[in-house]
Amino acid sequence: MQEIADDRLAAAGVRLLLQRDDLRHPELPGGKWRKLKHNLDAAGGRPILTFGGAWSNHIRATAFLGHERGFPTIGVIRGEERPTPVLASAAQHGMTLRYVTRGEYRAKDVAPLRDEFGDFHLVPEGGANAYGVRGCAELPAEIDEDFDVFCCAAGTGTMLAGVASALRPGQRAIGFSVLKGGAFLRDDVARLQESAGAPSRNWSIETEFHFGGYARRTPALDAFLDDFRVRHDVVLDRVYEAKMMYGLFELAARREITGTVVALLA
Ligand SMILES: Cc1ncc(COP(=O)(O)O)c(C=O)c1O
Repeated sequence: MQEIADDRLAAAGVRLLLQRDDLRHPELPGGKWRKLKHNLDAAGGRPILTFGGAWSNHIRATAFLGHERGFPTIGVIRGEERPTPVLASAAQHGMTLRYVTRGEYRAKDVAPLRDEFGDFHLVPEGGANAYGVRGCAELPAEIDEDFDVFCCAAGTGTMLAGVASALRPGQRAIGFSVLKGGAFLRDDVARLQESAGAPSRNWSIETEFHFGGYARRTPALDAFLDDFRVRHDVVLDRVYEAKMMYGLFELAARREITGTVVALLA
């Protein structure tokens, strides 16, 4: 846990603590590990088959874990074969890479994959299933400090679903959508919580801090990120963390959050 002292937050009555899940391991950061660990148990030694794009850190983490724990992994990759660091690392860690067209990817038709690969444990894109939610639900118990609000970025909403399900009464969680039109995440988070048998009403999703959409950026976001690095010596990732942090500062300025806030770097 890392405390960030910032005048702008202090003026708004916010004490900010960073939960540094990102520091767990370069190939397998804490957030990815939390989403995979119970899937690993559910797989029971069968191969894990999962989905992702050529830049997906979830693909990279799954391949690494398979290599480390000695189980086969299959990555169904959207689009054509491309020389990205993710795919190179996945291949190096023994993942079988199966490239499918964008249309096939969207259809997520598992039957032909069963014909081709036999029995496997399926993990949805981003680790977004009940096992992923359960792993993320273990996070709040690891936080020693009292806090009022938990903030994280939301891509699939799995982290938000899990953490919110395990907060104490009076605490709440906010997810900052990194996708444009992120309102659909409200249904997804509710569904993910239900699938894990852990519905809760202590969370909300901010949809206005997407900066144009997934992996998009603007000069304002870049300036915020650079300024945050200079002030606090913390490099936020552009796709997720910078958008969450920008939104967090904005909500603090509007006095929509106060008290002790834990923000997740994953
Ligand atoms: C830093 C960070 N925060 C949050 C998330 C949350 O993602 P999701 O909503 O898919 O659980 C991710 C996912 O990769 C991430 O990298």
